Amino acid sequence: HRFFQAEFIKSSVRTEDCPSDGLPEFALVGRSNVGKSSLLNSIVRRNKLALTSKKPGKTQCINHFKVNDSWYLVDLPGFGYASAPRNFEQIGISLLKTIFSIAQPCWLGQNQVPMTLIFTKCDKRKKKNGGKRPEENVNDFQELIRDFFETAPPWIMTSGVTNQGRDEMLLHIAQLRNY
Ligand code: GTP
Ligand code: MG
Repeated sequence: HRFFQAEFIKSSVRTEDCPSDGLPEFALVGRSNVGKSSLLNSIVRRNKLALTSKKPGKTQCINHFKVNDSWYLVDLPGFGYASAPRNFEQIGISLLKTIFSIAQPCWLGQNQVPMTLIFTKCDKRKKKNGGKRPEENVNDFQELIRDFFETAPPWIMTSGVTNQGRDEMLLHIAQLRNY
């Protein structure tokens, strides 16, 4: 098992306040409650580093965690839950809204920001999703975003509960850092 040193650096409301030391950043973007913070904890093997909750809307700021003194994992507020006390839309992180708005994944494509599709909670299989296996959702999603990317983004199946995908995530991040 590889050794990890992961530490919380800071919570920022505005992108201008984020760390600016130029280290590579890997941000977790997605709807509230999909398990972004849990996945972060799973990746660095630290159960309570990022705060998680059963209720959507737990993460309310841009939270930077530094790993091995050399790169950041960035935990972001989720979007898409009207009932969340403060979510992605309400929090006013306008730059992030522009970049990550689900209507504009083309921004990432056009600006050549590497994006990876992370499927979370793969230990679950939801009835309301037609009982589809997680793998079957990959095709659906890639079809949806096909027009925005020259090549289909890579994807990884994960679970913060079983730690599925953890090694793959770390390997993937290492590869991106070496580009
Ligand atoms: P926001 O901060 O609101 O955007 O949510 P989030 O995406 O950070 O979700 P969070 O990690 O707080 O997890 C939400 C809920 O899902 C919690 O109750 C977690 O225990 C649960 N959860 C997270 N990951 C998994 C997973 O891989 N499997 C299962 N079964 N539950 C998970
Ligand atoms: Mg969170």
